[in-house]
Amino acid sequence: MQIKNVGVIGCGLMGSGIAQVAATAGFHVTVLEAEQAFLDKGFRGIERSLAKFAEKGTITEKPETILARLKGTTSIDDLAGSDIFIEAIVENVPEKHKMYIALDGVAKKDAIFATNTSSISVTELMAVTRRPERFIGLHFFNPVPLMKLVEVVRTIATSEEVFEAAVAFATKLEKVPVRTTDSSGFIVNRLLVPYLLDAIRAYEEGVGSIEDIDNAMKLGCGYPMGPFTLLDFVGLDTCYYITHVMFEEFKEKRFAAPPLLKRMVMAGWYGRKTGKGFYDYADPAKPVVSKNL
Ligand code: 3HC
Repeated sequence: MQIKNVGVIGCGLMGSGIAQVAATAGFHVTVLEAEQAFLDKGFRGIERSLAKFAEKGTITEKPETILARLKGTTSIDDLAGSDIFIEAIVENVPEKHKMYIALDGVAKKDAIFATNTSSISVTELMAVTRRPERFIGLHFFNPVPLMKLVEVVRTIATSEEVFEAAVAFATKLEKVPVRTTDSSGFIVNRLLVPYLLDAIRAYEEGVGSIEDIDNAMKLGCGYPMGPFTLLDFVGLDTCYYITHVMFEEFKEKRFAAPPLLKRMVMAGWYGRKTGKGFYDYADPAKPVVSKNL
């Protein structure tokens, strides 16, 4: 199975990162967005990231050579030649279903469909398509250009050939693929989410301050970010959504959102993207712990 042309659906943080790494690896990439403004924003991020890599000498080609393999579009018909589609749109089942039905209308018969969902059942997404055996999960991590891992997720319907083609594709992107099954949260979020929620519970129970819990895990365990910095980085709205899906699946307390997380999301404190979460990013270079938590 030859993969040459890649279709990416969504040019947000994840979609643009996926498009960037695919183009960097030599694939021809077409990115679909609902509006030109979203494409422009995503492409500006890609240009910034490629410029940074060029400055550091971590890419062998010039940024403009890589960018020449990338095309943005608002017309789904432009994706018809894609050998693999990677969907990275909003985590909303009806929206994703609508997209897959539309893609099935333009895609080649043997094209692979992949979802970058972090917690929605891959099987549930696959169910509306005409290609259950050619449907997989490819879960990338934020920031995509820097994080080496990709979780390759199979459902009970995925063919062996497609699964192995997806593993080989992830390797070509210079990522390290891990194989996993369609269980909510896959490997990383299955372990990461209870840890992040426990950090909030520890804070709620007065075990330590936000800064001390962050420093404890950073300096005591060698994690690149403490749990509260990571929660703000991933987005509290995203984390809250993931906990909801995982709790629904497992009905276990360790996946239940602590009240503080729920309240912060209700207040619109989503973390870095809104300028406020566990930390206040009024000065992004010097975040301080948010007041009143
Ligand atoms: N492209 C190119 N370069 C980038 C970049 C990007 N997108 N983002 C950051 N960089 C560069 C920075 O500019 C910086 O360059 P410099 O050394 O020249 O200043 C360099 O990378 C290092 O960045 P920082 O100095 O800002 O900070 P760190 O050294 O801490 O590295 C990090 C940043 C790689 C994000 C590191 O903090 C990290 O690994 N954090 C944990 C991230 C993580 O756990 N992600 C997974 C989240 S879970 C997830 O995504 C799953 C989902 O389902 C929820």
